[in-house]
Amino acid sequence: MTQPSRRTFLTGTASLAGVALLPKALFAGADLSVLRAAESTAQLAPAGYPRTPVWTYATEGAGTVPGPEIRVAAGSRVQHRLVNDLPQPTAVHWHGIRIENAMDGAAPLTQAPVPPGQSFDYDFVAPDPGTYWYHAHNRSTEQVARGLAGPLIVEDREPWLGEPGAASRELTLVLDDWLLDADATIVEDRWDDLHAAAHGGRMGNTVTVNGNANPELTLRPGERVRLRLINTATARIMQLDLPGLSPRLIALDGHPVPPRAMETILLGPAQRADVVIDAPLDPDWQTTLLLDPGNDEWVNIATFAVSGESLTPAKADVRPLPAWRTLPAPVLTNPQRETLLMEGGAMRGMREAVYRGETMDFRELASNGMVWAFNGFAHGMDAPMFRAAVGRTVHLEMTNRSMFPHAIHLHGHHFEVLRRSGAFNMPGDVRDTVLIGADETLEIAFVADNPGVWMLHCHMLSHQASGMMGWFEVA
Ligand code: C2O
Ligand code: CU
Repeated sequence: MTQPSRRTFLTGTASLAGVALLPKALFAGADLSVLRAAESTAQLAPAGYPRTPVWTYATEGAGTVPGPEIRVAAGSRVQHRLVNDLPQPTAVHWHGIRIENAMDGAAPLTQAPVPPGQSFDYDFVAPDPGTYWYHAHNRSTEQVARGLAGPLIVEDREPWLGEPGAASRELTLVLDDWLLDADATIVEDRWDDLHAAAHGGRMGNTVTVNGNANPELTLRPGERVRLRLINTATARIMQLDLPGLSPRLIALDGHPVPPRAMETILLGPAQRADVVIDAPLDPDWQTTLLLDPGNDEWVNIATFAVSGESLTPAKADVRPLPAWRTLPAPVLTNPQRETLLMEGGAMRGMREAVYRGETMDFRELASNGMVWAFNGFAHGMDAPMFRAAVGRTVHLEMTNRSMFPHAIHLHGHHFEVLRRSGAFNMPGDVRDTVLIGADETLEIAFVADNPGVWMLHCHMLSHQASGMMGWFEVA
C-alpha cells in the first residue's frame, strides 16, 4: 500500500514495467502548479505583537496561513505538485473529497510521506460540490498546529449565487486555534503532551479567522452572504453565534441540507458549515462573530461591520443548494454491521488494549504514548477494522465510552447519520466528520463505493496520535 515518492521511484529503479502503476500525473507533470510547503511567518496575534513563525502552503509567492484557497468546478481535477521545503517529511490530505485512494495523502497508509526536498504530484477529481479543506497528514499534531491547512472549494454544479433567495456573495472563513507564547511564538515542546491527549487534546489560546485575531469583515446593508465556515483547529470544538444576522444552515461538510435556522453553529475539528446570513439595512450597524470556548463565556473572534450602499434584501426563504446527485444512498435492508467502540482518556481510562500486537494495561499503553483505543486496539494499523465489498452498505454503530467528545472522520466517503443518542447531530445529515459526545452512541451508514484503504480516526489530532486511529478496506 505504501509506495515510494515519485522521485525516489525514478532515481531508484528506471523499470518501465512499473510505469503503468504510477498515477497519470507523472506524464502531465510539467504543467502541474506547485503547492509549496515551507517555513514562513504570519501576523497571527493582534498588531503590536511580533509575527509568528509558522509552516505554510503557497501556490505562488510567500506562504500564508491559512494556505491559498484552491477552487475547482465540481467533477474537474485538482492538480498540484507538492514541493516539500519543510524540515520534516509531509503529505497533503484533501479532507472530505471522495478521492481516488492513491491521492488521499494519508501517510503512511496510502503513500510514503514526502521527504524534505522532494515532491509528490496530486492529481484527482473532486466529484462533489461544497466546502472542503486540505491539510498535512504526517505528524499532524505538529504540522497542522504549525499552520499547514487551507480551504478547498468545489463550486456549485448549477448556478446558485445570485439566484432568487440565494446569497449575492460568499466568504470563506477558516477558523483556527493556536497555542502561542507571550511573544506570539507557537509553543513547540508539547506536540505529544500525553496529559492534553488524555483530555480534550492540545488546546490553543488564540483563535484566528483567516489567520488574523479578530479581523473586521464588511457587509453591505441588506446583503445576503454565504459563509463557508471551516474549523481547522487541532482540538477545539467551536460553538459559534452570529447575533443579529439570522444564520441559516445550508450545508454540512460540503453536503447540502434543507435550509434551517440555527441559534448557534457547532463545528468540531475538521467540520464545515455553509451558512447564509442577512445583514440588516442600517448602515453603521455592527455585530460580532462569537465563540464559546466551552464555559459559556462568549468571546469575540471577528467583527462584522455594515457599511456602503444598501442592497435590496433577498426574500426571506433561503434557496437550497443544488443537490449533489453523486452520492449513492445506503441500502438498509441487509447492511454489513460494524461497531466502533471508543475507550480511554482521563477519568475513565481502559483496562487494557492491544498495541503493536501486544496486550497492555493502561499504564503500559501510556508509557508507549497511547491513551485511547478503537475496539480494543490502540493505533491499530496492523489490520483493517473491517473490510467491505465495493458497493456494500456499511452500518456503523459508534459508541463513545469516554468522558470526552470525539470528532470521528472517515476517509474517502461521506456517511448518513441514522440515529443518535446525543444532541450533536440530526438524523439525515450527511457528513465526513461527526462529533460524538461522552457516552453517546451514533449510528451511521454509507455505501462503501470507493475502493482502497481508508483511515478512520478522531480529528482531535492529539487523540489520533495517541490511539484513536484505524482503517478499513473497500475491495
Ligand atoms: Cu482531515 Cu485523516 O484527516
Ligand atoms: Cu477524540
